[in-house]
Amino acid sequence: MHYYIGADLGTSALKLLLVDTKGQICRSVSRSYPVSYPRPGWSEQEPAHWWGAFTEGIRELTAGIFGIRGLALGGQMHGLVILDDEDQVIRPAILWNDGRTQKETDLLNQQQVSAHTGNIAFAGLTAPKLLWLKANEPESFEKISKIMLPKDYINYRLTGVHATDYSDASGMLLLDVKNKCWSPKMLEFCGISEEQLPRLYESYQPIGGLLPEIAAQLNLPAGLPVMAGAGDNAAAAVGTGTVTEGGCNISLGTSGTVFIPSDAFSVDPFNALHAFCHANGGYHLMGCILSAASCNKWFCEEILKTDDYAAEQAPITEEQLGNNHVFFLPYLMGERSPINDTDARGVFLGMRMDTTRSHLVQAVLEGVAFAIRDNLEISGISIQSSSLCGGGARSELWQKILCNVLGIPLRLPQTEEGPGYGAAMLAMVGCGEYPDVHRCAEALVQTKATILPDSALTARYEAQYQKFRKLYPSMKELFKKIQ
Ligand code: XUL
Repeated sequence: MHYYIGADLGTSALKLLLVDTKGQICRSVSRSYPVSYPRPGWSEQEPAHWWGAFTEGIRELTAGIFGIRGLALGGQMHGLVILDDEDQVIRPAILWNDGRTQKETDLLNQQQVSAHTGNIAFAGLTAPKLLWLKANEPESFEKISKIMLPKDYINYRLTGVHATDYSDASGMLLLDVKNKCWSPKMLEFCGISEEQLPRLYESYQPIGGLLPEIAAQLNLPAGLPVMAGAGDNAAAAVGTGTVTEGGCNISLGTSGTVFIPSDAFSVDPFNALHAFCHANGGYHLMGCILSAASCNKWFCEEILKTDDYAAEQAPITEEQLGNNHVFFLPYLMGERSPINDTDARGVFLGMRMDTTRSHLVQAVLEGVAFAIRDNLEISGISIQSSSLCGGGARSELWQKILCNVLGIPLRLPQTEEGPGYGAAMLAMVGCGEYPDVHRCAEALVQTKATILPDSALTARYEAQYQKFRKLYPSMKELFKKIQ
């Protein structure tokens, strides 16, 4: 039997899967690491923590296993990792949900960057981070020899090859996405050169093999092929079989995303969503909300001081669904799409003397579902059904709320570990186990269950959504004032 390693370098943890050629997950290992929030709205992580988690986790995952053929990573996108000319990390990585770059984002949008990249600037993307660094930490900026994304840092340490893939590169706002090449104009805007950037690959292409000293450290064969891998959302799309036009995948992880694949490059009517490359060689549109399952985690763990999410959700009755008098705006880290506002914040609205704890828990789940719907609305595409993955997808209540807020069937894949499973599939394709990503998905991805909308509940949620969508516009100016 042959095995493949798929890794998901997430924000809260690294998840590693050992998958056999039939698609069975034989083992899984998870290692968490901290996020630091040095100032309100900032978010950073130490690449050394990722590497420590990876080396420890791999040894546990593969102990006593022979026949491993290849590995690939899916990773949190947009994070800025910079190395000096001795390959030392210059400063902590600035993450995808960091909101410090509003000024630089506005500056880039004044330059009409969409003409060069297909995408408008958002604070979380990599290019505004480079501009911020240049203005605020010039000594770090001057030292940059290599610029890379989080998963590419692991790949670099594994193989010594400075590489990235098109799906993740798209989120740097340095790539001419349609033509799959670095944009000379964007490099000029950011004051960087192509030598500082990684080489570009398709996600399923091998970038190199394990370096002998690393192989010895990990107890793996030297030269083991490492594929370019993908941004976590593109990897999750592969892992949920979202690889053809007409498909959609929704992920309820730390972030919440809506992923709509397409064969050809296209942008949405408002250019409000990301128009990026897919890991299958094609393209996709993506909406991203910065806080999804993290809203529920924050409310339960930080505010209610419990990690028993199921117990908090248990008292929410059928009649309470679609009838909540409390609304929640899930903008705890500001918001990416569609509102693109680093000043936005979380809000509970509508509380009364008879409001209970469970109304608030419910409002959090609903607020995230409404924010996801905002992204589908703006896409201008009529989605008929979607797959659903990510940690939040484990809650049956949240599945039901989302299904009825969107009014479409939601398929639950056999594994909810979308990015790690997708990464293992990319490794299989790269090693020739399957001829391409589509055929690999056809062969391996299976649906465990489908949640169907209920017309009465969908109607109630429609009325609730129409109220929800009026809230942010009426508070937009206020958010600026309370900063
Ligand atoms: C997507 C995004 C997030 C991260 C989470 O644009 O920023 O989904 O990739 O890891």
